Amino acid sequence: MARRIVLTSGKGGVGKTTVCAGLGIALARRGARVLLVDADMGLNNLDVALGMEGRIVYDMTDVLRGKCALRQAVLQDTEYSTLSLLASSHGTDMEEFPSGAFRRMLAEAEGAFDFVLIDCPAGIDNGFHRAVCVADEAIVVTTPHVSAIRDADKVMSLLETYNLHSVSVVVNRVRGDLVAGGSMMSADDIARLLRHRAIGYIPEDDCVTVYAQLGRLGKGNARSDLAMRYIAENLISGSRKIYDCTGEYRGIIGKIKTYLRRQI
Ligand SMILES: Nc1ncnc2c1ncn2[C@@H]1O[C@H](COP(=O)(O)OP(=O)(O)OP(=O)(O)O)[C@@H](O)[C@H]1O
Ligand SMILES: [Mg+2]
Repeated sequence: MARRIVLTSGKGGVGKTTVCAGLGIALARRGARVLLVDADMGLNNLDVALGMEGRIVYDMTDVLRGKCALRQAVLQDTEYSTLSLLASSHGTDMEEFPSGAFRRMLAEAEGAFDFVLIDCPAGIDNGFHRAVCVADEAIVVTTPHVSAIRDADKVMSLLETYNLHSVSVVVNRVRGDLVAGGSMMSADDIARLLRHRAIGYIPEDDCVTVYAQLGRLGKGNARSDLAMRYIAENLISGSRKIYDCTGEYRGIIGKIKTYLRRQI
């Protein structure tokens, strides 16, 4: 049976969709059969992050309305055959469907996959509840910013009321130069504050912005891609490999790099 993992955060814009897409690709590269589910009905953009937006014929609301079979709405990636997307449509009001319809739809799909990654909307309202209650595991994504950490903490408390096997943390957009220079909290400190196991740290990386626009997230060899690969490995094997975001800013060359970054 598939492992159903929801990516959530509380605060918007911290990188849930980015991590969902990048992690899905990293898992597929390792041969895992992965279904990515866009559970953000308000501002869906997982299809864009994957470069699949132009190929969508049916989405999950078509399945829920009985317009097509589930297999017709599950779209396969052109590069990694074991990676699929179940897209959502912009602004769908899920309240129009009977309660449990989303859960039943996913239950039908999960037999064919090793991982189902669910991209949760921001906030803690019905959309959050719908996405979390179909999952067995949660990854809480935060950035090193106070408001994101605070919201992640609130979400962690909420997640305790669900029947989840595990809750772990991804700290995204870590600025290694600022951490090394002592002006940003380290990812280790953030995970300790949140009192949950860190499954990955992802550096702030301009390649994310560029690759997301090209629909090539996770498919290159950027630092962020490597960080996603470590998370995939941790999920598959239970290892604790964490990308060192500060590594390149240590030592004499690192200090020069830190100095130069401050000049721009
Ligand atoms: N590690 C990173 N380095 C640089 N930019 C990043 C990184 N992670 C995410 N971003 C950028 O941050 C923005 C928000 O990311 P994303 O859409 O994944 O967040 P989200 O949590 O899914 O947002 P929402 O709550 O609106 O769904 C995007 O422009 C993305 O390219
Ligand atoms: Mg998103």
